[in-house]
Parts: sequence; structure tokens; C-alpha cells
Amino acid sequence: MIKLCANFLGTSEKFAGALFEFLVLALYATDMRILAIETSCDETSFSLVQVTQMHADATRIKADKEGKYILPIVTVEKNLVASQIKLHAPFGGVVPTLAKREHIKNLPILWRQMQKIKEVKNKEIDLLAVTVGPGLEPALWTGIQFAQEIHETYFKKSIPLVGANHLEGHLYSFLLAEKTEFPIFPSSRTKFTTGGSNFQFSIKSETQNLKKEKTTNHLFPMISLIVSGGHTILGVLHSLTKYEKLGETVDDAVGESFDKVARLLGLPYPGGALIEQLAQEGNKEAIQFPRPMIHQKNYNFSYAGLKTAVLYYLRSQGVNVDNYSPSAVFKKKKIPIQLQKDISASFQEAAFAPLVAKVARAAQEYQAQTVCVGGGVAANKKLSELLQVALPQATVIVPPLMYCQDNAAMIALAAGIRHQSSQNMYPLQADGTMNL
Ligand code: KG4
Ligand code: ZN
Repeated sequence: MIKLCANFLGTSEKFAGALFEFLVLALYATDMRILAIETSCDETSFSLVQVTQMHADATRIKADKEGKYILPIVTVEKNLVASQIKLHAPFGGVVPTLAKREHIKNLPILWRQMQKIKEVKNKEIDLLAVTVGPGLEPALWTGIQFAQEIHETYFKKSIPLVGANHLEGHLYSFLLAEKTEFPIFPSSRTKFTTGGSNFQFSIKSETQNLKKEKTTNHLFPMISLIVSGGHTILGVLHSLTKYEKLGETVDDAVGESFDKVARLLGLPYPGGALIEQLAQEGNKEAIQFPRPMIHQKNYNFSYAGLKTAVLYYLRSQGVNVDNYSPSAVFKKKKIPIQLQKDISASFQEAAFAPLVAKVARAAQEYQAQTVCVGGGVAANKKLSELLQVALPQATVIVPPLMYCQDNAAMIALAAGIRHQSSQNMYPLQADGTMNL
């Protein structure tokens, strides 16, 4: 319609296109400042995020020579995270009652810090968001109740308070990736400030700078892999807001299997990063662990059997793994170090093989040129390396470590995108088993 008008007026096609996109942006793009709270597991987090040019459907907007925003511009103005890892480590996992107690203690401390920020002081906030699931329900309730309290007493209910899905947070955390993670958008501006916790990120494109093999800069469809301590989900994003789940784990999550294997090896909780470290000096061919469900023509995963295979292997080597009670994990070192390294390398290889194979298959099926990875296991460098090797033409987007792990910045994004695109919001009710 606009194009027709423009032609009628004798305006060039290019101008008509630009005008059309300007009007689309003017219609749908808004600036928002979102204050978010995350307490679903063992991290208490508060974030202040500004999102500009929030456009609900980025599918159709192509990047051009002049450079144009095709995704929201995200500015993390503050991201505070109080980790409880040390508290739970001696128990070999997260203890819900301890987590709840710690969130109750940490929330007011973080909130006091947030109140020092000018925009919070001046109440220049458009949306208040809190994680409502999935996660530990007693922990989720602490966040919800705290959010309700500040909504009433501090904001006098002048702004909306909405629930957010933690998994949507991990899904959208790719928007928090640094510019180097976006080779198809070479002119992205990234401004880091103190401690790397605040940065400005915007995406502008310059097609002339594209690497040769990247013949197009279509961001969607994008294959999404969420790999955390509680979830292993493969999906496809057809646009920023149109998501389709393709498969997930039928038992343990991949992060959970790293933690369980770490425990068998006598390593403290959470063991993912330690296994990655040990694996660097191990022989990945040393032990042939099973690659669960790798050949099944679906997008599901299974990790319970792999952990059991590691247990049986340790027993076959004369290691009495039954002695490794959670409280004994720090005593350890009964397993020779080279064996720990070889098991770590072989296990990691087996754990990642089905993920990589199924991401590659999904990318082919959906003709996707972009893959985004989120969740704690996304911090594993070997995983992104294997994905890039399997999909040499694709762009693999992984957020920096602090946004792979649980944080409230991703919660702000998830709530903001949903709110802005007029989708139903989640009620303020803890739902431990919420999914995508
Ligand atoms: O996303 P996240 O912080 O919390 C959940 O929502 O679960 O993920 C935590 C999980 C833990 O299982 C941890 O062992 C794993 O992420 N993890 C890793 C690495 N860093 C953290 N797994 C493999 N390699 C890593 N480098
Ligand atoms: Zn998480």
C-alpha cells in the first residue's frame, strides 16, 4: 500500500522501502526500561535493562547497506547476581530451603543497590518483571513476593508487574551476545563499562563487510538450543516471537549429567566447568561412552544412561563410587588424575555428540543459518566449537558467561518482548514445571 503510494508519487523504490520500514518501526517500536528479578534456583539477581527499537517481528526486516536496526537494541544498565554456589556445594546440589532463605536475605541487599541508580530513584521504569517458573517453587515465591512488595510500596502500582518464563530468558539471551559473536552483523556497536556487567549492544548491518561464505544475513529461522542444569531443549525461532519447540530431554538435563558425573569423580557442585577444564587434558577417545538417542529421528535427548555408563566404568576400574556421598565430595582424589581427565573428555564428547547432531539436522531441515545457545552449559567452549565445526556456514551465537548462567537481564528481555508484542503475560504464580 505504502509502496504503491510511493510509486504513484514518483518516489524511488528504495525510498518507498525505507519509508515503509520507518512506518513499521514507528508503529511497533518502543523504548522500554525494565526492572527484573530472578530467583528460580541458586542465583538471586536484579537487572535494569533498556530495550529500544523493540520490534516484535524481525523476520521480514532485512539488513541493508546503510545499516538498519533489525533486532531490539539492548542496554544492560545494571546486572547484579548473588550466587549461592558455595552454600550448596557441600550438599552436592541445590537445597531448596537453603536457597529460599538465601534469596530472602539477598533480595533487599540487591534492591538497596538498585535504588542508587538514577532511573530507579526517579522511577523511570516502564515494566517490572519477575521469574515465575520453571524452578524451585519456594525460591520462585520469594522473588514474586518481593516484586509484589516493591510494586506496591515503591512504585505504588504505577507500572505493570508481570511474570516471566525463565526458559524464555535463556532463549532470548542471544540478544546479550557480544559483537564478535555476530559475524553477520559486523558493525554492531558494543560498549562495555565497569566489570563488563553493563554494555550497550545494537545491531546494524553492513552487507559489504560480510564474510565471503556468509552470502545472506537472514537471522531467522534460527535454531535454538537451551542447555542448563534443569533443561535440554531444541527449538526453532521463526521470528523473534514465533517459537516452535522441536524436542527436549526425556530424563536428565545435560547440565545435570555434568553435575552428576562430576560428583562421581569427587568434584564439587556444580561440576560442568570443572569437567570442561579436566577434559582439555584428557583423551576423548579413551573410553567409548554411549551417545544417547543420537540416531533417533527425533529431536529428543536422554542423559540418565550416560551418567550410569560413567558409574559402571568407574566400578570396572576398581573405584568404589558408592563411597562418594555428597558431603564427602571435597575429600576426593581417590581417582587417579589422568583417569579423571580421560573420563571427563570422553564423557563430554559423548554428551555433546547428540546435541550437535540434532542441531545440525534441525538447521538443515529448517534451512537455518543461525544457531543460538543459552543456559549454563552454553558456557562450554567445546560445545560451541563442535557446533561451528558441524555447521561451518552457520553463525553460532553464544552469550558471554554471565548471561549463559542465570541472570535477571535475560528475564527483563523475555518479559519485555512478550509485553511489547502483546502476547499473554504469565500470572504471578510460581510454576515449578513451566515449559516453553
Ligand atoms: O543455566 P544455569 O546457570 O542454571 C539452570 O537454569 O540450571 O545452568 C547451570 C548448569 C549446571 O549444571 C552447570 O554444571 C552447567 O550449567 N555448566 C556447565 C559449564 N558451566 C556451567 N556445563 C558444562 N560446561 C561448562 N563450562
Ligand atoms: Zn537457567
